[in-house]
Amino acid sequence: MSAAIGSLTDRLDGALALVTAASNDLRGGCVVGFHTQCSIEPVRYALWLSKANHTYRVALFADHVVVHFLDVGDHDLAALFGGTSGDDVDKFDRCDWEPGPGGAPFLTGCPNRVVLRRVSLWDDGSDHVCLVGEVEDVRVVADFAPLRLSAASDIEAGHAAQDRPLPDDVSANGEPSTEHPPIDLASLDRATRDGLEDIAAGSGHQIDLSPPDAT
Ligand SMILES: Cc1cc2nc3c(=O)[nH]c(=O)nc-3n(C[C@H](O)[C@H](O)[C@H](O)COP(=O)(O)O)c2cc1C
Repeated sequence: MSAAIGSLTDRLDGALALVTAASNDLRGGCVVGFHTQCSIEPVRYALWLSKANHTYRVALFADHVVVHFLDVGDHDLAALFGGTSGDDVDKFDRCDWEPGPGGAPFLTGCPNRVVLRRVSLWDDGSDHVCLVGEVEDVRVVADFAPLRLSAASDIEAGHAAQDRPLPDDVSANGEPSTEHPPIDLASLDRATRDGLEDIAAGSGHQIDLSPPDAT
């Protein structure tokens, strides 16, 4: 079935976008093919993020995301944001950007964009989560020709959709476990807390384990 859908969506040849977000001192950004306007009044825009992506884990805790619409000349940017992961490289070290609402990066080379204030998040148990946002700002420049799926067929996604930690194969100490003793949050170091949040995010759960005094 997925091959049949693939051949259909290949023919539709949708325009690609690049989503950015910031939260908890982290920035994230990835290429998305799954995005669309989804309400007229009020105007809403939806996008789908893979639970495997660093960007998803950042967006889970973000109030705002920015959707940049890629131009035909943006193949290099698409390769950076669609072909590498923020888990391994700092993409924002390799492009020009400035902080937007809630710290969500504006990519200065990508002027066609919408700013979304997150309204809802929908997890139906599949490998992508739908984020719906109220459109707070829109910017469009003349002579914009979208970069389409067909022009990015040479880019291998930085994370495959199934490439994520799941509770069955990961526990707090990284070993498979059938026992779940209570966790003393105050005793956890930041890296361990971040790791547990990532594991929860991999299953679609927004869990903030930061102690009350950590801002
Ligand atoms: C053409 C193309 C379309 C993609 N569409 C989506 C998408 O709709 N949603 C998504 O979450 N990831 C999508 N990806 C995958 C991410 O962009 C890719 O795995 C990225 O490296 C993730 O980076 P991150 O881990 O820093 O978030 C797409 C990648 C490509 C090349």
